Amino acid sequence: MVNEPGKTMNKDNESGITRRKFILSAIIVAILGSFASLLSLLKVLAPAKKGGGYVSTISPGDTLVYASGSNIGATLRASSMNPGDAVLVYPKGKSSNPANLVQLIRLQESSFKAPTDVKLTDKGFVAYSAICTHLGCTVSWVKNEKSPDASYTECFCHNSIFNPSRGDKVEGGPAPIPLAQIGVKVSSDDSLVFTSNFNGKIGPQV
Ligand code: FES
Repeated sequence: MVNEPGKTMNKDNESGITRRKFILSAIIVAILGSFASLLSLLKVLAPAKKGGGYVSTISPGDTLVYASGSNIGATLRASSMNPGDAVLVYPKGKSSNPANLVQLIRLQESSFKAPTDVKLTDKGFVAYSAICTHLGCTVSWVKNEKSPDASYTECFCHNSIFNPSRGDKVEGGPAPIPLAQIGVKVSSDDSLVFTSNFNGKIGPQV
């Protein structure tokens, strides 16, 4: 049987069109794939967002509760702390936000020097963000038993040192800025409440 010339040409055309469509689809898929790879590469190379997304939800009037230890969640009592002591605290009911973690410190009232904001202190109590401004580790307290006011805050991840009687300014290590201060006040029932929000940036700043 002899093929009709017209029909043979249509089949050729159809298979040619199908092949071109296939090649075109393959090219589009390859271009989209490369674009996606480029986007992921840029994401890896891009520096982490400053501040690390830390946004505190502390409000004036929030009660301070223990953030660790056997008393976790319990209301902190001012009379339980002496000069040279420090504890990690959260605002009551807001412990799910790590940006709310605060280090409460008690020193001699006379020990505060600039740039500590003395208006944000009460009866020797001063409070700062407990999230290191280098890469976001939780800071620790290094107590000097002989001279309580010589105690200081240290981040053991990379040994940044902060001076609590001088606004937690950086005195060593890679932390780029001080730990932000937040206001506290002793209430008539011996509990403590926050009186402000942080006076500076919190979280990692590099
Ligand atoms: S995270 Fe604190 S010193 Fe690096």
